[in-house]
Amino acid sequence: MTSDSPLGPLRSLCFSFLILASTVHAAITVHHQQENQIAFATTAPGAIYTGVAAYNPTTLAAPPVPSPAVLTTIPINLQNEGTPGLSIKQKGSFFGFSIEMSVSNQVLGKNSSLIQVPFLNLMANIVNRAGSVMIRVGGNSQESAELVDDSLIPDGRILTKNLTGVTGTTQTPPLEYRRDLFVMMNKISELVNVHWFLGIPWRQTQPFATAIIKAADEILGDRLLGLQAGNEPDQYSLHGHRPEGYSPSDYGGEMSDLFAQLATEGLDVTKGGMKNLVSPSITDFAWTPEQVWDSGLLDKHGANIGYLTVEKYPRHNCAAMFGEPGNPDIIDPQSVLPLYLTHDAHTSLLQPYLNSTAFAQQQGKPFIMFETNTAACGGFLGISDSFVAALWGLDYALQMAHSNFSGAMFHVGGQNVFYNPFTSPPTNQSAFHQWTVGPTYYSALVMAEAIGPSNNTQVFNYGVDNLSSFTPIYGIYENGTPVRVAIINYINDPSGASTVHAVISIAGTTMPSSVKVKYLLADTVVQKGGYTWANQTFGGNFESDGRPMGEEVIRTVDCDATAGTCTVDVPAPGAALVFLSDDAFTENKGAPAMTFPTTAYTKTRNTGM
Ligand SMILES: *[C@@H]1O[C@H](CO)[C@@H](O)[C@H](O)[C@H]1NC(C)=O
Ligand SMILES: *[C@@H]1O[C@H](CO)[C@@H](O)[C@H](O)[C@H]1NC(C)=O
Ligand SMILES: *[C@@H]1O[C@H](CO)[C@@H](O)[C@H](O)[C@H]1NC(C)=O
Ligand SMILES: *[C@@H]1O[C@H](CO)[C@@H](O)[C@H](O)[C@H]1NC(C)=O
Ligand SMILES: *[C@@H]1O[C@H](CO)[C@@H](O)[C@H](O)[C@H]1NC(C)=O
Ligand SMILES: *[C@@H]1O[C@H](CO)[C@@H](O)[C@H](O)[C@H]1NC(C)=O
Ligand SMILES: *[C@@H]1O[C@H](CO)[C@@H](O)[C@H](O)[C@H]1NC(C)=O
Ligand SMILES: *[C@@H]1O[C@H](CO)[C@@H](O)[C@H](O)[C@H]1NC(C)=O
Repeated sequence: MTSDSPLGPLRSLCFSFLILASTVHAAITVHHQQENQIAFATTAPGAIYTGVAAYNPTTLAAPPVPSPAVLTTIPINLQNEGTPGLSIKQKGSFFGFSIEMSVSNQVLGKNSSLIQVPFLNLMANIVNRAGSVMIRVGGNSQESAELVDDSLIPDGRILTKNLTGVTGTTQTPPLEYRRDLFVMMNKISELVNVHWFLGIPWRQTQPFATAIIKAADEILGDRLLGLQAGNEPDQYSLHGHRPEGYSPSDYGGEMSDLFAQLATEGLDVTKGGMKNLVSPSITDFAWTPEQVWDSGLLDKHGANIGYLTVEKYPRHNCAAMFGEPGNPDIIDPQSVLPLYLTHDAHTSLLQPYLNSTAFAQQQGKPFIMFETNTAACGGFLGISDSFVAALWGLDYALQMAHSNFSGAMFHVGGQNVFYNPFTSPPTNQSAFHQWTVGPTYYSALVMAEAIGPSNNTQVFNYGVDNLSSFTPIYGIYENGTPVRVAIINYINDPSGASTVHAVISIAGTTMPSSVKVKYLLADTVVQKGGYTWANQTFGGNFESDGRPMGEEVIRTVDCDATAGTCTVDVPAPGAALVFLSDDAFTENKGAPAMTFPTTAYTKTRNTGM
């Protein structure tokens, strides 16, 4: 129902609308924020922002142009076949999301009859390009979450936070939730091809709370990819959840206890989530991955472990998030900004995992970065919520693909963090505000197109003599043949002098007469909102219904037949995805485009499904 309210531009308020999307057979009632775009008041010049972190408009100063100047005319000499060192085969779902369980009701929907339409659209954009999306619902808040009877949670809600006795650095209140959370997840999967991870609470092990295992299998079936066996166990003793000296073999012993308990409960652990446990999800805080492998975890439990996982953020911002003002440990975001604008940051972060990704291949198991983002404890103002993070996230994801990870889940927190790929409006404002799409969502979109839906894609971080850390380059291959090239330019140089000229050639084949190029762009690295991918945007704060806005622009770059090269320019800052053939391009257009247009909904009707 749309009504002309006295709120002027805020014409219609929030109602439940009935989805009538043509690709969808089930009719469900969904949460809908009204369609108008709102120029929401930002802080007046000089005023101090006092709202929540997710919408803080403060920007940083862009770093200077590197001096001396770096290599900008870059030869990219690809080979049509036989390139050594390509990654394992990757799926389009590589770039996934990790949604903190305690905010699942804000992000996914209020309950199974009130699903968030913008969320469906955001996922559909990725499914259209990549075929599917992986989402983990969990995090610290899963560790003491309790599945309770419907009657204990009032007002149609799916979860409540029990604020009695809040502990831990991230101060996540214990959760109580009901089965309808999983029903809602399953309904989302009926609408868009999302597959899910959940986690078994591990804080208390005598006995384990196992209700989630049965409920998740029953409700989600094959849409449940796996169940996480403990979140960041190498930090348990730090946070007082285990005694000092708690070791990888103690953790493995707890997994044995879980199996013993499930045997007494008559649960068949050769089926469902229990045959695809997600482990060990360590942070390299107290244990290295090798210490876990060497403890014999896979010898004992390998048959039930479906995914090997780690969780790593490059650094944390906990002092600012939870410390007192003036705390000397508080990091000035400006001082760490350059660390997010260099490829070397990714290679050094990932280097310690290369032995483990090789080990995972030997074990025949995928190795996943199960939770990550720009910085733990909410990220950094001006970094996590600016174009910096879009370039950083794309380079990081591509480098993980190159490094033989099989996926990376970027974390989504609540209103009080900076790093969200997408943020739903504050509950008390959802009547008139729309969603805010963050920079790492753009990384996800580009990554989805870079990898595409074949499940057969290989990635290679391309080395070039004298290449600087500001301009990483990736070759993307299908069946050993280069099909796309991704080029990132981290430099902020409005003069144009730092524009990259990528001179692409492919030995062993005739160059095409032209290539198609899509750009990820913003005016500066520190810009907030309004980034574009192929000229489409999700706008600024509160401006998105999850569908890209604007006309898609795909550039055609003519190649030089004599030289056998195609030269693609990449602005500073920016990123380009070059499609080396029409096949490489159309491949990503194979899936029927699907969105959930808010204009297609009928007036308010509560189906009560
Ligand atoms: C969802 O919440 C609405 C509004 O509170 C309520 O009317 C409806 O019954 C709830 N649906 C479910 C499945 O709980
Ligand atoms: C909230 O948590 C406290 C402490 O763990 C517990 O004693 C209490 O029963 C919980 N309240 C509800 C409503 O579950
Ligand atoms: C690689 O991992 C294996 C298995 O944990 C371990 O035995 C080996 O020492 C590791 N190698 C290096 C170089 O760390
Ligand atoms: C990834 O795995 C492939 C296949 O095993 C291997 O050739 C390549 O060197 C690995 N890449 C890295 C960065 O470890
Ligand atoms: C929403 O809640 C926040 C925090 O409680 C409050 O500061 C803000 O004024 C509220 N906004 C509206 C529109 O009620
Ligand atoms: C790729 O993998 C996904 C998830 O495993 C699967 O659903 C999809 O059908 C596969 N696509 C192709 C083209 O094989
Ligand atoms: C790399 O830089 C060095 C020093 O500036 C120069 O001598 C060399 O020719 C360069 N190599 C290439 C391939 O550009
Ligand atoms: C990019 O999109 C905007 C907004 O839709 C449109 O006005 C503009 O013409 C587009 N740019 C190009 C080059 O088509």
